Amino acid sequence: MSSLAKNYNRRKIAFKRGKGSFLYSTNGKKYLDFVQGIAVNSLGHANPHLIKAINKQAKKVWHVSNAFIIPEGEKLAKRLTQKTFADYVIFQNSGTEATEAAIKVARRYFYSKGKPDKNRILCVKNSFHGRTIAAIFASGSKKMTEGFGPKVGGFDHFTFGDNKSLKKAINNKTAAIMIEPVMGEGGIKVVPNWFLRELRKICNKKKILLILDEVQCGIGRSGNFFAFESSGVKPDIVPIAKGIGGGFPIGAVLMSKKVASAMVPGTHGSTFGGNPLAMSIGNAVLDKIFKKGFLKNIKKTSKYFHNELNKIKNNYPKLIKEVRGLGLLIGLQLFNDQKRFIQKLENSKLLTIRAAENVVRILPPLNVKKSEIDIAIKIITKVCKEF
Ligand SMILES: Cc1ncc(COP(=O)(O)O)c(C=O)c1O
Repeated sequence: MSSLAKNYNRRKIAFKRGKGSFLYSTNGKKYLDFVQGIAVNSLGHANPHLIKAINKQAKKVWHVSNAFIIPEGEKLAKRLTQKTFADYVIFQNSGTEATEAAIKVARRYFYSKGKPDKNRILCVKNSFHGRTIAAIFASGSKKMTEGFGPKVGGFDHFTFGDNKSLKKAINNKTAAIMIEPVMGEGGIKVVPNWFLRELRKICNKKKILLILDEVQCGIGRSGNFFAFESSGVKPDIVPIAKGIGGGFPIGAVLMSKKVASAMVPGTHGSTFGGNPLAMSIGNAVLDKIFKKGFLKNIKKTSKYFHNELNKIKNNYPKLIKEVRGLGLLIGLQLFNDQKRFIQKLENSKLLTIRAAENVVRILPPLNVKKSEIDIAIKIITKVCKEF
C-alpha cells in the first residue's frame, strides 16, 4: 500500500535505471522513453556530461543562499541573456514558480510606473501555466480550479482562435497577456506566428506586456531555442523550466531591462532557486544545446519524425486525425480517446503520454537518434494495425 496521496493516477510501472532514450523497469523490461519526464530530460537519461557536472559541483558546494553571489548562476544568467531577447533572469525551481514570478514581474512593473490598477493578466481559456493557486486561476479551467476557492482574482480569459473575445477581454486594467507558443497540456496546439505577431501589435498599441510561457516548448524542444523565435516577436517576459535542468528542478523567468527595473531588492525571492548545484547542471545542459549544430539537428530529426508520422496518419485516416507540434514536441491527435492507444504503445515498450483533445504526446530527448525514431515508428504502426 502506497503512502503517497492519490492525486496521481500512476501507471503500474517503475524504473531502476535509464540510459539516453531508454528506461529499464524494475521487472526487467526495456522501454523507449518518449515521455522523458514530460519534456524535462532534454539530453535523455544519465547523460555523461550532466553526470560529470553534478558530481563535480556536488564535491564543491551545493547550496548557499541568494544572500550571496553565486558564480554558477551568474554564468547561467549571462549565457541565457546573451543568446535571447532577455536582459535579466530570476531563477526558480519549477515551471509554476516561473509563471508566478512572470505575473509578479508584470504587476510590479506597472506598480513602479504609478499604475497599480493595471494589474490584470489575460490568459487563454483552458490553458496551462502550472498548479499553484494563482497559476490554476490563470488557466481559466473549471477542472483545475474546482474546489480550490475562493477564486483568485486578477485574471481574465479569451477563447483561443476567437479574436472578438480577445479584443473584448482587454481593458485599461490589463497588465499582460500570457500565452504558451505551443499549448502543451492543451493538446500540442501550435499558436501560429501571425497570431503571436498580432498579440505583440495589440500589446504595443495598448501598452500591455507580453508573457510567453516557454516552460514546455522552450530550450530547444521546438527546434529553435525558443518556440516563439520563428515569429520574430520579442516578448517582455518568458518563464522557462523543464528542459533547462535536464532532469534537475530549475525554473527561471527571463525579462527585458524595462520590466526588470521594477524588481528591486525584496520584491521576489526563493530559498532554493538558483543554487550552485542547480546552476552548474543548467550550464551543462546549455553546453550541449548551444553547441554548434545541436538545434539544427533537432530540426532535421524532427522533420523526419513528423514525415514518418504523417505517413502513418495517411495509412490510418480513421484513427489518426492530425500530427501536431513543433520540433520534438509532437502530438498525435486521435479521433477517439487515446488512453487505450497509449496503453498499447506501452505494452509494445514505447512510453508516451496524454494531452488534451485525444492527443498522444511524444517527447523524445532532444538528442534522439534516427534509429530510435525508427523503433518508435515501427511500434506506432504496429499499434495502429491492432486498432
Ligand atoms: C506551459 C507550462 N507552464 C507551466 C507549467 C508548470 O510547470 P511545473 O510542473 O514545473 O510547475 C507547465 C508544466 O507542464 C507547462 O507545460
